[in-house]
Amino acid sequence: TDLSAFIARLPKAELHMHIEGSLEPELMFALARRNGVEIPFDSVEAVRAAYSFSNLQDFLDIYYQGADVLRTEEDFRDLAAAYFDRAAADGVVHAEIFFDPQTHTDRGISFDVVMRGLTAGMDEAQARHGISSKLILCFLRHLDEEAAFATLRLAEPWLHRIEAVGLDSSELGHPPEKFARVFEAAAALGLKRVAHAGEEGPPEYVHQALDLLKVDRLDHGNRSLEDPGLIERLVREQMTLTVCPLSNLKLCVVGDMAEHPIDRMLDAGLRVTINSDDPAYFGGYVNDNFGAAAEARGLDREQLVTLARNSFLGSFLSEDEKAAHV
Ligand code: ADE
Ligand code: ZN
Repeated sequence: TDLSAFIARLPKAELHMHIEGSLEPELMFALARRNGVEIPFDSVEAVRAAYSFSNLQDFLDIYYQGADVLRTEEDFRDLAAAYFDRAAADGVVHAEIFFDPQTHTDRGISFDVVMRGLTAGMDEAQARHGISSKLILCFLRHLDEEAAFATLRLAEPWLHRIEAVGLDSSELGHPPEKFARVFEAAAALGLKRVAHAGEEGPPEYVHQALDLLKVDRLDHGNRSLEDPGLIERLVREQMTLTVCPLSNLKLCVVGDMAEHPIDRMLDAGLRVTINSDDPAYFGGYVNDNFGAAAEARGLDREQLVTLARNSFLGSFLSEDEKAAHV
């Protein structure tokens, strides 16, 4: 359609994408074969059929299992290269991607193998597609504070390739306050800070992300809408929210795309962006997310341009680089 062609042509930045969540079933099988890893599925179709989730934890269980095929530097490079090829096709010119080092170090894969592979993929994408990218190291919030500190120590030799720390995994029962000290230590190392908050968790978790983690950007943030004072604060502080429509649908954060709050967020004056979260698991890359939200909520071209513009304004590019894109 006209609108999908318009979306496809819009230059955009992607700010909320877990690289492990871009592992397509085809690559999962290829890596399983290459590494001699058993996976509990007979076919690509069987894998896709298993991607039916009733909440965040349901998804996380299968997502961490899928990541088990990632073993070598080449695996991480191939994973990143596949994402960037796909993102380039969607008009993404800059991507700030999450990775979950603890998912790998806890399986005996070294932090350095992960970093060498991902940064090789990033450098190739810059050369092949002209896509710039930055890495965001996420702490797994279901693990403890000491494990997060140990991960931050592993990251110290790589600070020149890491832009920010983030917080992901099981939100309920793992409030941001659990990681206040490790985020403070990350800030002291010069890292920026983001956190998943208000995806399943209450508005109080968003307040904690702002007050205790001092985040520069908020991932999801949907449940902020339940707290008018919080909305006002997010607008006043020009906080960027990285919203993920297809993820919200697949993880039952919304019951139906027709109920998605993206336009209410825009109307409230929030600096919202559209992102793919875990594209291989949720059925689409960034343009599919724009298209699904636009169709369900009747977004017009002006709103789509605002969303794309917000993606650069909310990025960690320099002011000069932002100005070149907006
Ligand atoms: N890890 C990967 N995707 C996630 C999400 N949407 N929420 C929390 N943790 C995640
Ligand atoms: Zn996410």
